Amino acid sequence: MLKTDISRIYSFVSAEEINAMQHEVSEANRLLYSASGKGSDFLGWRDLPTQVKEQEIADIKECAAKLASHSDIIVVIGIGGSYLGARAVIDALSDNFNPLLTKEERKAPLIVFAGENIGEDYHYELLKILDHRDYSVIVISKSGTTTEPAIAFRLFKAHLEKKYGDLGARDHIAAVTDKAKGALKKLADAKGYQTFVIPDNVGGRFSVLTPVGLLPIAAAGFDISALLAGAADMERICKSADDIESNPADLYAAARNALYRKGKSIEILAAFTPNLNYIIEWWKQLYGESEGKEGKGIFPAGVNFTADLHSMGQWMQEGTRSIFETVINVEAPKYTLLVPNDAENLDELNFLSGKRLAEVNRMAELGTMLAHVEGGVPNISVSIDKLNEENLGALIYFFEKACAVSGYLLGVNPFDQPGVEAYKKNMFALLGKPGFESLKSELEGKLGSS
Ligand code: PA5
Repeated sequence: MLKTDISRIYSFVSAEEINAMQHEVSEANRLLYSASGKGSDFLGWRDLPTQVKEQEIADIKECAAKLASHSDIIVVIGIGGSYLGARAVIDALSDNFNPLLTKEERKAPLIVFAGENIGEDYHYELLKILDHRDYSVIVISKSGTTTEPAIAFRLFKAHLEKKYGDLGARDHIAAVTDKAKGALKKLADAKGYQTFVIPDNVGGRFSVLTPVGLLPIAAAGFDISALLAGAADMERICKSADDIESNPADLYAAARNALYRKGKSIEILAAFTPNLNYIIEWWKQLYGESEGKEGKGIFPAGVNFTADLHSMGQWMQEGTRSIFETVINVEAPKYTLLVPNDAENLDELNFLSGKRLAEVNRMAELGTMLAHVEGGVPNISVSIDKLNEENLGALIYFFEKACAVSGYLLGVNPFDQPGVEAYKKNMFALLGKPGFESLKSELEGKLGSS
């Protein structure tokens, strides 16, 4: 079960101030559940976990099993919301050294990602490895027109067709896209790829519990029914609890907005296990694209402790006091590992002999929290007992619901991302896309004179 603790912010924002936000939080919830707030065309994520159809889950599992059966590697192509959720869940649940295991040891193919960057070496090196391996591709794009994954898919489609022939390639490709529009849908129909639909009313960064996340997660060998069950539990809690204190998502949304109003404009999400690195990346995208607009928004940053205590720790302890931190605490690791006794004790660590690494890590976490609060950094804690599908489902829904409420408290539309278009227009113009001629000369002028 997921727990939120905001008691370590009370020396910065009082409990009374948080409780005084009840009316605002209730209004944000009213907007959300009556679909009368900004961006209300994109509220499909709100009841996905409880509304998902059994048949859809069965189809996803069947396709995942088919791809897994004839692949050592599955390349998942997508960017932003069409990539980060799957990567976050797969990384959180996987063995940290997955690429070094065999398919039999993993009990699933290795999942790798492409099209979330345009690195030439990255894609070249991956294709080179795939020359000698059986693999499949899951290509994901809601719009079906995003440049980065579209270029990557062009590369991998050609590679698969050369390797398995046109018909064979079809069996190694699944597409997740819009039900009717976009170049990817057109291509998938023309080539006969198995296709899954991203609902119209679910935006990219809220789509991990649709086939966008579920198909790659199932292909990686994880239990998507349990993931959805955990999310469904959280959906019910978030819907039924109407006071801030008993609603974890509302509590988190209220706390971060209260801190923002006191000048804490940067939130640093931290975890003490590398398994959560991509949960942090997914959260950064969710909150960054949802809130950073109209000159407003808490800047979402992330750190992985204890590694980053040796890089960002100094800044966090003593830098500009504009930050607060939220720590995801996983109470129990999967395995047990004790610090061994050493008769010579040359490293003087025998005071730790027999202790679990988890205990050392926990003391690092508590020590960090106390030092940071003392140093002027409010601390919010979000705890789960262990990393499993149910808890990750709950965590995902918790952050999504809190993000929506938080965006409404901030007064923005949490479901659009108009700012992302600016770089795309410039890139198209600079690459000579038809229709962008006048912008091209304007930009070339600017580049020339800079
Ligand atoms: O959250 C979002 O909407 C974006 O990050 C998109 O997911 C991202 O731009 C990819 O878009 P698409 O799925 O259309 O390729």
